[in-house]
Amino acid sequence: MQTTEILLHTRFQIGPVDPRVFGGFLEHLGRAVYEGVYDPQSAHADADGFRTDVMQALRRLRMTAMRYPGGNFASGYHWLDGVGPKANRPTVRELAWQSIEPNQFGTDEFIQLSRRMDWIPMLTVNLGTGTPEEARNWVEYCNCPLGTKYADLRAANGHPEPYDVRLWCLGNEMDGPWQLGHVPAQEYAIRAQQAAKMMKDVDKRIETVVCGSCTISLPTYMEWDRQVLEYIGDYADYISLHRYVGNRNGDTPDYLAITNSIDRQIEEMDATCRFVQAKRRSKKRLFLCFDEWNVWYKNRQMDGAGKFAPHLIEEVYNLEDALVAAGFLNSFIRHADVVKIANLAQIVNVIAPILTQGDDLLVQSIFYPFEMMSKRRDGVSLRVVVQGPDYEGQTNGRVTYVDASAILAAGAVHVFATNRATDAAAVVQVNLADCDITGLADAELLTGPNAQAANSFEQPNLVCAQPFADVHIADGKASFELPALSFAALTFRLG
Ligand code: AHR
Repeated sequence: MQTTEILLHTRFQIGPVDPRVFGGFLEHLGRAVYEGVYDPQSAHADADGFRTDVMQALRRLRMTAMRYPGGNFASGYHWLDGVGPKANRPTVRELAWQSIEPNQFGTDEFIQLSRRMDWIPMLTVNLGTGTPEEARNWVEYCNCPLGTKYADLRAANGHPEPYDVRLWCLGNEMDGPWQLGHVPAQEYAIRAQQAAKMMKDVDKRIETVVCGSCTISLPTYMEWDRQVLEYIGDYADYISLHRYVGNRNGDTPDYLAITNSIDRQIEEMDATCRFVQAKRRSKKRLFLCFDEWNVWYKNRQMDGAGKFAPHLIEEVYNLEDALVAAGFLNSFIRHADVVKIANLAQIVNVIAPILTQGDDLLVQSIFYPFEMMSKRRDGVSLRVVVQGPDYEGQTNGRVTYVDASAILAAGAVHVFATNRATDAAAVVQVNLADCDITGLADAELLTGPNAQAANSFEQPNLVCAQPFADVHIADGKASFELPALSFAALTFRLG
């Protein structure tokens, strides 16, 4: 069996891994908020109505930046509906998902939950049906000291201390014709610039994320981004990318080769940012915010039919989906110099790593690669050279069977490696050119009986991470065998 070599050098560094790459996304969609994080009727609810079992599971993921309240929902949301005494909050007809929104969970509850979970709040303003002024008022509500209208409203609602929300998305997927209030690039750019200016006038410390192309398949791909970036100029700090993928052709090898396309999407967006920066002769480098990413193709139930907390897009994840989730994170780490924020879409029930059913909770397959990598995320991304057997994906092109990324930490290196082969183990050797590997600190392996194996409430542990000890260290190098369709996260001690 031909060995795959993962070749590293401690001085060939891409850049520090921004912890915010391990972010999440909570939208008022289906059962994400109600019956997800917030469920006062649940046996697991605490005094504030938050589900402690959901919080406990999410804590394992060590999520950082948490995007809220949408998503498509954000483009019809008026934040004032969601603050103040709960009994006075209006119940509204929600158009993005055709659902009923009672506004029992809003800004104050989200901030409270974020504090408990140690999340960095990241709010999306409404630039669909909302106005730049409404966005500016929200910044005042969240961030200003007492003495003016919206800051005083926050205090009247029981929260005198400012929330200090630093990350603000200037709308959601405004290039998508499905978006409430969708407009052409030029018009969005004007709205976004007006909003960003006023928001930064209220609080200079905030950072803004402007809407970039939300899919690679729209005809406006990259042209939208160029126009928006040229107009908004220095008022944006990040540009957003979104990506949902799936095994639509039932072709597992091709599906697992999707990393080529994710790498390419990042590099294309970065190229556009650099092009506009050069054209504007600007010193300001824009970074990428991959604020929605996941597998989503099996469950397309998107019409809430006028119901409260309907079951929408509750995707069930299998082993191959988990390997693709690892592929996304590998790609973000390999591009640590440009991808500064990323948000797994979403966190509970809706295209999520965990599902609730009554008072029960299920951990899905995609939970594990996130957990395995998040606990090893601190450090500097290293350039990774993978040399070994490869194959040609039908649509995604040539890839090595082994996909990898690596992070250099204090006295240690974390290596993440996926074996995409469906029927053969991969023999892997990790070789740090300028440094000896002296031991294995710890390692975990994720695999399962077959590509389509998925956890269920009946069989919750079919696809889950296990300790991985079968690693040999000799002559300063590490070798191990990755089973077919598996993902390993390994931490090595360095000499
Ligand atoms: O995450 C689900 C939806 O996908 C979001 O609301 C939207 O932004 C995207 O199209």
